[in-house]
Amino acid sequence: MPRLVVVSNRVAIPDPTGKGSAGGLAVALKEAFEAHRGLWFGWSGKVAAQPSTTPRIVDKGNVQYALMDLTPLDRQEYYNGFANRALWPIMHYRIGLSEFSRADYAGYLRVNRSFASALAGMIQPDDLIWVHDYHLIPLAAELRALGVTNRIGYFHHIPWPAPEVLGTLPGSQDLLRDITEYNLVGVQTDLDADNLRRGLVQEVGAIQRKGDLVELGEKQIRVKGFPIGIDVNSFQQAAKRSSTNRLVRQTVAGLGSRRLIIGIDRLDYSKGIPERMESFERFLIGNPDQRGQVTYLQVTPVSRSEVPEYATLSRVVNETLGRINGSLGEPGWVPIHYVNSTYPRPVLAGLNRLARVGLVTPMRDGMNLVAKEYVAAQDPEDPGMLVLSKFAGAAQQMTDALIVNPNDKIEVAEAIRDALYMGREERVARWERMMATITQCDIASWTASFLKDLSGGRSPGAGRILRPVQSAGQR
Ligand code: F6P
Repeated sequence: MPRLVVVSNRVAIPDPTGKGSAGGLAVALKEAFEAHRGLWFGWSGKVAAQPSTTPRIVDKGNVQYALMDLTPLDRQEYYNGFANRALWPIMHYRIGLSEFSRADYAGYLRVNRSFASALAGMIQPDDLIWVHDYHLIPLAAELRALGVTNRIGYFHHIPWPAPEVLGTLPGSQDLLRDITEYNLVGVQTDLDADNLRRGLVQEVGAIQRKGDLVELGEKQIRVKGFPIGIDVNSFQQAAKRSSTNRLVRQTVAGLGSRRLIIGIDRLDYSKGIPERMESFERFLIGNPDQRGQVTYLQVTPVSRSEVPEYATLSRVVNETLGRINGSLGEPGWVPIHYVNSTYPRPVLAGLNRLARVGLVTPMRDGMNLVAKEYVAAQDPEDPGMLVLSKFAGAAQQMTDALIVNPNDKIEVAEAIRDALYMGREERVARWERMMATITQCDIASWTASFLKDLSGGRSPGAGRILRPVQSAGQR
């Protein structure tokens, strides 16, 4: 069994108390790291004035964690700047929000280069290397430039836009050329895969071969959809056990006989939070008998607050919330409860189980695991109903949800009403079909299928004449 080397911007070291809430990638990799010896390399989350060029090593069981600090300038240019201010909006089809700066792009390439130099010396000949997400697109090119010939896979957790959208970002052709240094590129949906293959053909002259295969010069890359899943069983169990949890009991007591509508999202403009609040407002205006009968709880941990567009969003959400609660609330009834806390998974599972409607209405989203978690958390005898944006990758799989266009507030308001009034028999039938889908495509099958495809052939890099050592940033 080859060693698995995972590279991601954030690294999740297991919490020794076992109480911490493991993030999505940590859950995904748990089984893979049980089967393979592992190395997980990435940013420590810390900044230092003069960070070491070699990683800090932490050994835990089967896995070695290798952590790099960044300078404040690295964090500003690589993470806040190019990754989250230029690439993130473009990948989410928000051309108007994308702020490109040459300095940020140089910082992004610099961090990728320094990660590659620190990692290259740790790579063993048979290692399988799996890179995650948009922070690290040039990493394989930098590793190849240092002579690494192992098979390298990349998984893109967020949407991959149409070439006409990506092409507006300066530097995007270089990113596309860099992506051809991977052997396997996984994206969330077939649409994303099609967009990326089209981009490679239209923008950098690659040739589309049969199926997933694309060729650029002597390089062959497979670009394929691998829809990510959740650990359905553990989330379901956590939801079942949640009734004793203090926060869940407090929510039950606060609701009384009212029905709960829930939204759970990071504070990000891609999630459509103010738009969703306005749809709920439309619902209350159009259904005055429901005033005082429902409560909408929006759980929204703050994120990336140093990026100006996120600070603006925070203001917009607070204004929208205040306006709706002020104009439609009554003594003893607040229509929208908005909380910024980060809750552990068991609490979120319990809150999901209480909710008669799950509102997952992003303007654009790679997959959206909250939609899958909402379904997994439901009581099979009396499940709630999911209202799901057509622009979330999850909508390709969960066709039994009430699928909506989040730009149409009246359509979303009608779906909220339909979800609240839907009979038990129909809710159970739809829930069973969605549950079957998310169980079949759960997190274990996602990890296994990506790694099977990644390990399924010889590296095109292996055996070919190495290019002179030159950093991708110098090209
Ligand atoms: O979904 C994309 C992603 O970047 C994840 O990798 C990450 O866990 C999440 O968004 C939160 O973003 P950040 O790491 O910037 O807080």
